[in-house]
Amino acid sequence: MTRVFSGMQPSGEPHLGNLLGAWVNWVAMQREAESIYCVVDLHAMTSPTEHDPDTLRHRTVDLATSMLAVGVDPEQSILFVQSHVHEHAECTWLFNCITGFGELRKQPQFKEKSEGHESVSAGLFDYPVLQTADILLYHADEVPVGEDQRHHIELARDIGQRFNHRFGEVFTLPKAVHPPAGARVMDLQDPASKMSKSQSSEKGIVRVLDDPKRIEKKVKSAVTDSATDIRFDRDEKPGVSNLLEIFSAATGRGIEELAREYDGRGYGAFKSAVAEAVVELLRPIQQRHHELADDPGEVARLLEVGADKARALAAPTLARAKDAMGLLPAGEA
Ligand code: TYM
Repeated sequence: MTRVFSGMQPSGEPHLGNLLGAWVNWVAMQREAESIYCVVDLHAMTSPTEHDPDTLRHRTVDLATSMLAVGVDPEQSILFVQSHVHEHAECTWLFNCITGFGELRKQPQFKEKSEGHESVSAGLFDYPVLQTADILLYHADEVPVGEDQRHHIELARDIGQRFNHRFGEVFTLPKAVHPPAGARVMDLQDPASKMSKSQSSEKGIVRVLDDPKRIEKKVKSAVTDSATDIRFDRDEKPGVSNLLEIFSAATGRGIEELAREYDGRGYGAFKSAVAEAVVELLRPIQQRHHELADDPGEVARLLEVGADKARALAAPTLARAKDAMGLLPAGEA
């Protein structure tokens, strides 16, 4: 059976990009594959802006609650918090020792995130190696993610391949899986940049828990252009194309079909329809989130069960990797 792994950082309130780029696929894939989903709290600690312990704790629970609300089913999938399974941190060290400094320095996300910051932690630099450990520890075949994670998954493949070549076949080489629409949702105010938890302005980002009025306001004030035609062209019409892609991902209808239907009806009618589709997509998720948020004990229980299951899978893989690298098993001489 295909094994799937993916993770999300508790680094801010999740948004439409997280939902359309990753979560929609997570939920769809859990029906056919053995799926493992993770709140990657260790990754969230690498942010160049100082992290606040209370905020991290709160966001970790909240993100797990959102994952359950979008439809991650703990009966079908394993859902857990990264720091509850210490094998992730330990495996990172093994991979650190076979990863080049130059390889990490040229990672696009490191360049982006460190830019403009005077002091950057070693954790941020090492971020993709921890992500590699997340994925390889579970022998994941497929990793459902947005387009921005492509380089990280390629690095995970490279590191896995290198390990297997040098120390014997231990790891499965993963591949990234993207949705047909929504793999790169752009900022509504700046359609040249991706919608981002940490970098988008509040007006440019639709949060999964935004109320309908707010969503409508944000979508209606999305930057488009001075023409009136509705067609998909990322270079010439980035704003309209972004809305078309959101519309398509939210409704499951084709981009071309939607463009044909709305072309000639004006941006106002088009934006109203996009806003309505997003509101309808989010409505049941928000409702379920509010229900679950009333029972944090149950969320904690589900995460504990998930961590136990994850540990049972990760521990033997880590043991094999340590042994392959020549680390002496305890009790042997
Ligand atoms: P994170 O927390 O930034 O984002 C979580 C997921 O959301 C996707 N995403 C987007 N998709 C479309 N449009 C956007 N504007 C957009 N913004 C975010 C991301 O691609 C991602 O799938 N490094 C990862 C977390 C991670 C991980 C892993 C992922 C840690 N370990 C192992 C997969 C496997 C990250 O920063 O995601």
